Amino acid sequence: MKIELEGLNHTYDVEVLRDLSITLRDYKAVGIIGMSGSGKSTLLRILSGLERPTSGTVRVNGHDVTNPEYRKQVGFVFQHHALFPHLTLLRNITLILEKTRGYSPDQAKARAMELLDLLHLADQAHKLPKHVSGGQAQRGSIARALSLDPEVVFLDEPTSALDPILTFDVLSAITELRDIGKGFVLVSHVMNFVRSFADYVIYMHQGRMAEHGDPSILDDPRSPELQDFMAKVPDCTFR
Ligand SMILES: Nc1ncnc2c1ncn2[C@@H]1O[C@H](COP(=O)(O)OP(=O)(O)O)[C@@H](O)[C@H]1O
Ligand SMILES: [Mg+2]
Repeated sequence: MKIELEGLNHTYDVEVLRDLSITLRDYKAVGIIGMSGSGKSTLLRILSGLERPTSGTVRVNGHDVTNPEYRKQVGFVFQHHALFPHLTLLRNITLILEKTRGYSPDQAKARAMELLDLLHLADQAHKLPKHVSGGQAQRGSIARALSLDPEVVFLDEPTSALDPILTFDVLSAITELRDIGKGFVLVSHVMNFVRSFADYVIYMHQGRMAEHGDPSILDDPRSPELQDFMAKVPDCTFR
């Protein structure tokens, strides 16, 4: 995956991202960390094309993120699963494949079952989101995000709404996806997971990349901001 930011600024009523410029080449998984309000979600929304930056250029794998075509080929997973509540996990995926990819019902079902199987959900396929655990629903959201065959999958605190057991379950499932040939950009507060999954880490502080580099920056932070953050962030049990 390649990510290029040139003079990226984003403002709501205040400046939220301040003059970010960076080129990242050949990373599989970029982890974004930082305190609440530091601009992580905004950066993720811009990278995924969900939000247009106020100024600057942003390219992902060479695609200009403001191009509407780009948005059609990204997958996004939010803190809370965004499955249609009245549809089974299976139908949540087949519907997308039929409506946006022109699959026949049989083709859609076959592909959806492959994806559910990949997320260890084959036996839950015919259940509604409210009848599965929060971790299973979140894994269903990931399967649905993959259904569009995105080049890059964006995950914004995918386990923040889950208890520790379900968190482990979802992060293990994401870990298994690392080598399926997609890029991943994710925000997480589970440092052990970021350390093992990401091959590049960005620490956001007040709208800037206060420190970034390979995951060893988590063990040996140089900036006072990241040192302070690492001292405060709770230890979380993941491997
Ligand atoms: N849609 C919005 N309208 C106005 N302000 C926003 C909006 N989204 C985020 N913000 C503000 O931008 C800042 C960064 O938010 P966000 O990117 O969500 O940070 P994080 O994900 O790191 O917690 C915060 O001060 C937040 O209040
Ligand atoms: Mg956020």
